[in-house]
Amino acid sequence: MEIVTTVKEVRDRVKAWKKEGKQVGLVPTMGYLHEGHKSLIDKAVAENDAVVVSVFVNPMQFGPTEDLASYPRDLEADAKLCEAAGASLIFHPEPEEMYKDGFCSFVDMNGLTNALCGLSRPVHFRGVCTVVNKLFNIVQPDKAYFGEKDAQQLAVIKRMVTDLNMDIEIVGCPIIREADGLAKSSRNTYLSPESRKQAVILSKAIFLGKKMVEDGERDAAKIKKAMTDLINTMPLATIDYVEIVDGMTMQSIDTLKGDILCAIAVNIGGEARLIDNFHYTV
Ligand code: PAJ
Repeated sequence: MEIVTTVKEVRDRVKAWKKEGKQVGLVPTMGYLHEGHKSLIDKAVAENDAVVVSVFVNPMQFGPTEDLASYPRDLEADAKLCEAAGASLIFHPEPEEMYKDGFCSFVDMNGLTNALCGLSRPVHFRGVCTVVNKLFNIVQPDKAYFGEKDAQQLAVIKRMVTDLNMDIEIVGCPIIREADGLAKSSRNTYLSPESRKQAVILSKAIFLGKKMVEDGERDAAKIKKAMTDLINTMPLATIDYVEIVDGMTMQSIDTLKGDILCAIAVNIGGEARLIDNFHYTV
């Protein structure tokens, strides 16, 4: 497995693969890879002849007060994980390689991004759409893999691919969790031991909400209240949102019907803003 840093190197490798008739998969990441990322890479390796993993902490998707500078990085460990999983190539560009002097073109979206994380992170999805679009243009994959952990991101990418006629299959992959239920995240490393203990409340709230839906509850307000009350039992937890939305449009719903997404964002101890969710089809 090779690590390359320039767009040209990626293009050369991919061109050679395509000449041999190989199908190419892409797994976009910001690095500090864990079992969640690995599940995406495993699926990509199983379904393609060559797999590119991009490792790029994308400055454009971080707000001015967010954790760009402190975002964890460990390329050596990432390379080991990718190699063991059978990836073919890591693309690890510097920000200057992705955003040349004078850069001023963006991919933006309305509607889907004016909800959930888009409300508290106003520049986030413009940054995600722009960088993912660039990665798609650079790698030109047949399939690209995204986690259901970032459910709104997955919906936004699917919408972008449909709206802009991109010939790429988007594959969603299930949420991978720690033994106690906490969804795996590179940001879990920010948590002190006490915060880590209390962070389990996110998955507990998700499992509670899911159980209520499975038991037949269809009133979104009742489900959200039960989840909110449970999260608020943890003194270090500050809720950003507890929402139930239409799974496609991300717009809030009162009565559960069709494909729904229940999503939460909670700040733990002022150390990390964590997210979790479940999908359900009524
Ligand atoms: P990052 O947070 O590194 O996540 C990369 C991919 O791994 C995303 O598709 C995310 O949903 C998936 N992932 C993370 N934790 C997961 C878990 N516990 N279970 C399953 N999948 C998980 O998301 C990004 O990077 C960036 O926004 C990116 C798409 C790379 C654009 O910069």
